[in-house]
Amino acid sequence: MKHGKTDLNAPVDKLRVGILGAGQMARQHARAIGRLDGATVTAVVDPDASALAEVRRIQPTAIGFATLEDLLRAQAVDVVHVCTPPQTHEMLTEQALEAGCHVYVEKPFVETHAAAARLAKIADRKGLKICPGHQLLYEPPTRRALELLPALGELIHVESYFSFRAMKHSASGRAPLRDDLQLLDILPHPVYLLLDFLERATEGSTRLVSVEIGPRGTVHALVRRGSLTATLVVTLDGRPVESYLRLVGTNGSLHADYVRSTVQQNIGPGASGVDKLVSPYRLAGQLLVGTTRAMGKRFIKKQKRDSPRYLARSTSPSAKMSRHRSAGPICWRPWRSARRSRSRCALRIQRRHLR
Ligand SMILES: NC(=O)c1ccc[n+]([C@@H]2O[C@H](COP(=O)([O-])OP(=O)(O)OC[C@H]3O[C@@H](n4cnc5c(N)ncnc54)[C@H](O)[C@@H]3O)[C@@H](O)[C@H]2O)c1
Repeated sequence: MKHGKTDLNAPVDKLRVGILGAGQMARQHARAIGRLDGATVTAVVDPDASALAEVRRIQPTAIGFATLEDLLRAQAVDVVHVCTPPQTHEMLTEQALEAGCHVYVEKPFVETHAAAARLAKIADRKGLKICPGHQLLYEPPTRRALELLPALGELIHVESYFSFRAMKHSASGRAPLRDDLQLLDILPHPVYLLLDFLERATEGSTRLVSVEIGPRGTVHALVRRGSLTATLVVTLDGRPVESYLRLVGTNGSLHADYVRSTVQQNIGPGASGVDKLVSPYRLAGQLLVGTTRAMGKRFIKKQKRDSPRYLARSTSPSAKMSRHRSAGPICWRPWRSARRSRSRCALRIQRRHLR
């Protein structure tokens, strides 16, 4: 089964990406790839035709297929993004690797250690790259924490905390996901953050000392790597919703906040009376400035992304569509647009046209 037409004009000097699954995450991937110069989405796979149509609205030149086999029979792709439910990751990743594609797999990568090792082996054998979707490792709080890590002295403790709202729905969109599946869905983020910092800090092997899993998907774990300790707390019930990593060293500590995208640092031994007094003010100042800056950056980024100049520069199909829509006051009416900021932008264009 094939949806859409082959685009004979598709550029060949770009990485050709096939997206498997056409749900919520696939739409994010389609938008993100659309912003890249070096890659293009040439195919999207989902048995659900309406889901396919949603992604093809973002990437109109991508061809829709019902199965990965259909895609592999019809097209050569360089990279496959696996954005399907977790239980399908192993099978689809193996199939894509065997067909000679590099694979980016959304988290949770696969469900067992054995499966992960097996896929890594296949990728090695075929000389291909395989990558889990562990995006928090590349976000600003992690990058800043890595810069500050040497200033903390010897790292002695890491705390990874994640409290979240259960809101993910089943693929059918009718019933909320069960607590254990919800946990499986969310657990990779605090776990890979924790492990990454432990592995960077010291050599050796990481040991799970104890773990308790509560009935409502709460996890408390104690982890050790040499003399370095770490705790992991994941909860569905704890409020407010938070996601942070706290790193404690012999010369200070830092708090990387993934909800607000900020880092508060408390460098130095902080043992004197003055330090104890001043420290909360210093942290409060960092929190205020950091949060304001992060929000500002987010706002500017969004404005830039939606601006006509960005759309004019971008060659992605979705940008082309937006460019077409924003070509003038007649062909695009902002009050019909779902996105308010884009509407404001359009309003400004209209005013300029009318002057
Ligand atoms: N990195 C993150 O922060 C993040 C956030 C949310 C979800 N995810 C992950 O992304 C993946 C997808 O989640 P989602 O929220 O987009 O799910 P979703 O339910 O919105 O979409 C999944 C889609 O996959 C399709 N599908 C199922 N089996 C398929 C198959 N064999 N071949 C092709 N398509 C198939 C379904 O029809 C559905 O349209 C999951 O692994 C999830 O854990 C990651």
